Amino acid sequence: MVVVTITINGKKYTADVEPRLLLVHFIRDVAKLKGTHIGCDTGHCGACTVIMNGRPVKSCQIFAVQADGAEILTVEGLAKGEELSIEQEAFRNNFALQCGYCTPGMLMMTYYIIRKYPKLTREQIRRLLHGNYCMCTGYVHIINAVQEAHRRYWEGRSSQ
Ligand code: FES
Ligand code: FES
Repeated sequence: MVVVTITINGKKYTADVEPRLLLVHFIRDVAKLKGTHIGCDTGHCGACTVIMNGRPVKSCQIFAVQADGAEILTVEGLAKGEELSIEQEAFRNNFALQCGYCTPGMLMMTYYIIRKYPKLTREQIRRLLHGNYCMCTGYVHIINAVQEAHRRYWEGRSSQ
């Protein structure tokens, strides 16, 4: 067993874990944050995407020990109390989810790409989301949502 400390959404979690424990299981079973989903466990679907030290990672592809000392943001860290984040509002406004299984991973990728790229075309969004699968929506609404979140994020920055 190995002692691991990971900060998730600003809160530190320390646990004795087996070296083979995946980060997604640390998040779900140690931190008890069930918003991060497991879709494939093989690195393909993106349902388990979280932000680790500022970059998106598929948490089923990383051992918890590799995240020792890291700062993680999960979908639970997006809203401020009752106030949804711009990503969440944009998904709601654009009907960008149906079953919602892919949505936490989509939201975390959206969080990352809208901040990283000051300009984004629909084609770029499509490419940037290539590692996140949705079985329900056909992606059009998701791309609309990312565009809205992107516009609102940069409008918010320019008005500061
Ligand atoms: S569960 Fe991690 S990529 Fe599918
Ligand atoms: S909303 Fe169902 S998998 Fe995307």
